[in-house]
Amino acid sequence: MNQKPQHAGPGVLVIFGVGGDLAKRLLFPALYNLFQEGLLPEQFAVVGFGRTDVSEEQLREQMRRNLREASGELSADTAAIEWIVSRLSFVRSDFTNPAGYEQLAAKLREIDQARATGGNYLFYLATAPEFFLDVVQHLGQVGLLGQENGQWRRVVVEKPFGHDLESARQLNRDLTRVAEEEQIYRIDHYLGKETVLNILVLRFANGIFEPIWNRRYIDHVQITVAETLGVETRGGYYDHTGALRDMVPNHLLQVLALTAMEPPSAFSATALRGEQVKVLAAVPPLGARDCGMCTVRAQYGAGNEGGSPVPGYREERRVAPDSRTETYVAMKLAVDNWRWVGVPFYLRTGKRLPIRKTEVVIEFRKAPLALFRGASSTLPQANRLVISIQPEESISLEFQAKVPGTEVTVKPVAMRFCNRDFFGYKNRTGYETLLFDAMIGDASLFKRGDMIENSWSIIDPVLKAWAQGAGDLHFYAAGTDGPEAAHELLRRDGHQWRALA
Ligand code: BG6
Repeated sequence: MNQKPQHAGPGVLVIFGVGGDLAKRLLFPALYNLFQEGLLPEQFAVVGFGRTDVSEEQLREQMRRNLREASGELSADTAAIEWIVSRLSFVRSDFTNPAGYEQLAAKLREIDQARATGGNYLFYLATAPEFFLDVVQHLGQVGLLGQENGQWRRVVVEKPFGHDLESARQLNRDLTRVAEEEQIYRIDHYLGKETVLNILVLRFANGIFEPIWNRRYIDHVQITVAETLGVETRGGYYDHTGALRDMVPNHLLQVLALTAMEPPSAFSATALRGEQVKVLAAVPPLGARDCGMCTVRAQYGAGNEGGSPVPGYREERRVAPDSRTETYVAMKLAVDNWRWVGVPFYLRTGKRLPIRKTEVVIEFRKAPLALFRGASSTLPQANRLVISIQPEESISLEFQAKVPGTEVTVKPVAMRFCNRDFFGYKNRTGYETLLFDAMIGDASLFKRGDMIENSWSIIDPVLKAWAQGAGDLHFYAAGTDGPEAAHELLRRDGHQWRALA
């Protein structure tokens, strides 16, 4: 991961589901940014594959328009857009139709000839999950996964990767029957976020944090992913998924793994992923009884968002009117290893909360003695290191300071580093690094099969316990900071969530 090449080598990116939202909103704009940064090679092409009812020329025109919008009409770099669009071709086909894959193979041969792309292909599965396996099996059948004569063939698999432990295992088994594990790049877009990666740099490029990054100095950890959006147009998918499956086994546990893992012996895919697998394996699955005590599930009702009334979850499109799907989940996990035993990790995520905010809060133990006690002073407060992932990308250290004056009055203050202030603002999608890494064959930021299975092992017992009725479904009004039960979860331990403000 350390020494990346100056740009990717020759190759073709094939996007399955090219007509979908992900391709339009994120993948093509990410290619545009990569081109602008000089990271794409001259010998590069994109093939869209999908059912969308357009001609190749119409698809190009759509992408041209889409890239102009995404890059801000006025400042759009026309040369960059044309560079990408002129390299775009299209195979119109169902994902299950073998003829489409024959056509794709022929198209790729043509492109290899015309653009010297060397038979190197990155297949990106931006499709609904039910097609993941079909696509990969068909690719295998037409020989597009064979890596002969130094050619590379890789498959990027989007989430959701399975819907429980068994289905994730099955998908891993099925995929590795057709492709080698090293060819499979399971994506979690949280690993493309700057500040998520900055957790690693903060921890392992500095000497001051690691000595106190353990149970002796850390009281507890909070990981929050709060969203203001509701389920928007995704009611059909979401109502069968819920907040727990949608967010926890992937994004929240990913952040937990980076926060809690041991230092890797090298900054390499093997070492980084090995440590993450170990730390996830140290999270004891909650027993059926603990699920009632250590998890909270809730659903939003009607309320207010940004000053406007919004409907409750059950009134959303394609959601059952008596749905019991959770749109909010909070849980308390442990990490049973020498570093962390006894330190609770509190996780929460929800839709229709008052603000959008993703952060990790490391709360340190309090000073052992209330030295500055008295009418004008406060009792010791905990120091906190707050790693803010989005929308603001910052790291701040909260501590106590003396208020100037004759009295010794103590007040909490903060030292703050903000990415934007130091490094300026770059309009990025979060997919640039991930796409580039997949092209150059660096799998450090992608999940290995065992990481996914370890995450599902943590979630599976909760899914089962909930299905059997453990833990009530709570309700919260849209625009409020979640159900009272989530506050109670921390209060019982003498803690408090950092305010969603
Ligand atoms: C996706 C979930 O994986 O992550 C969505 O399916 C969620 O429900 C999204 O809104 C959150 O991503 P981000 O980058 O906006 O935090």
